[in-house]
Amino acid sequence: MTILVTGGAGFIGANFILDWLDRSGERIVNLDKLTYAGNRNSLSSVEEDPRHVFVAGGIEDETLVGILLKRHAVRAIVNFAAESHVDRSIHGPMAFVETNVFGTVRLLEAARSYWQQLGAVEKGRFRFLQVSTDEVYGTLGADDLPFSETNPYEPNSPYAASKASSDHFARAYRETYGLPVIITNCSNNYGPYQFPEKLVPLIIHNALSHRSLPIYGDGRQIRDWLYVKDHCSALRLVLERGAPGSTYNIGGGNERANIEVVEALCAILDGLCPRADGKSYANLITFVKDRPGHDRRYAVNPTRITRELGWRPSETFASGLRKTAEWYLDNTAWVMQAANGTYQDWVARQYA
Ligand code: NAD
Ligand code: DAU
Repeated sequence: MTILVTGGAGFIGANFILDWLDRSGERIVNLDKLTYAGNRNSLSSVEEDPRHVFVAGGIEDETLVGILLKRHAVRAIVNFAAESHVDRSIHGPMAFVETNVFGTVRLLEAARSYWQQLGAVEKGRFRFLQVSTDEVYGTLGADDLPFSETNPYEPNSPYAASKASSDHFARAYRETYGLPVIITNCSNNYGPYQFPEKLVPLIIHNALSHRSLPIYGDGRQIRDWLYVKDHCSALRLVLERGAPGSTYNIGGGNERANIEVVEALCAILDGLCPRADGKSYANLITFVKDRPGHDRRYAVNPTRITRELGWRPSETFASGLRKTAEWYLDNTAWVMQAANGTYQDWVARQYA
């Protein structure tokens, strides 16, 4: 048995593959285009593992995907591949349309052609898991209830709009062709192997390099934080027991304002790696220009996945954040390689 994971050299995909291979003998074919966000070093521990087959390529390459599905008799696709950074989508939306919309539709097409020629048993067992985000629901007011699966889609950034579009296509393939699609909408992940353009690794990287810690606007925007391995455990459950045609919201129940996240990280780093001058890393906090269209609050109601599949996160926000800081301190070689020339160009452009 084999599953096809797309975008497996990225943050969540790599964590998913490492966890999967720790727990299962089932092979993974990992199709990744290796954009700036893809990093094969994240998977160096399984490079020689015969259960992990890496293929460099894009989800938009229908022919390649068709060959991989047939050759490996794939029983499920887990689609992580995407352009994932909101700020980059504001600078250049087209890459998001290309991969997240056109790419996903081409992947769905390849899946449909393959699935339609399977025998009855394999057809019933096949799954297409579309890994999506809570950002498709838009923003919440301070007193609004957390997002549930019935909330309307109201995306506010080009990134969120592209993910909303891919979710709509995934849903349409289920309704129109019967493809056994499941969609998950998850909140903000943090943990090992996250590219240092996102808030948590950016703050750790900047703090340890004694650079300023940029906080957009007033820093009171709220996100619901989930340790990446808890997202992976949810996805494994959904793949195993989720109902085709269903959507599952996944969230950590950890609503925090950005300023609180950054202050918590600074306090952890003050303990783990005190500054030579005795000051707190929090002294490096700098409020900068806000993100256009910045969503004020996300919060996710995970009742369905908890009730139907028995999922619960293992990490608290405090334990997950500490583990993350420790991982970045122990893996400076990974960080230095990720924060290479093109990363420096991005930082210069975004924070000039
Ligand atoms: P990431 O940017 O770290 O990784 C994306 C991966 O996809 C990279 O390895 C990249 O090389 C690959 N990729 C990009 N375009 C591709 C293409 N055309 N074909 C094949 N591979 C391609 O992203 P992430 O944070 O790991 O997110 C993974 C998925 O989870 C995304 O779909 C994202 O929308 C979703 N998601 C992310 C979060 C989060 O907090 N990071 C939360 C909820 C949902
Ligand atoms: O909610 C799920 C989403 O979470 C995923 O779908 C996205 O792929 C993922 O990138 C993430 O989106 P956010 O925009 O919420 O994540 P980011 O880490 O970019 O920012 C988190 C918050 O921190 C957000 O309110 C913006 C703020 N921020 C971010 C950066 C990079 C800052 O204040 N300063 C910064 O330098």
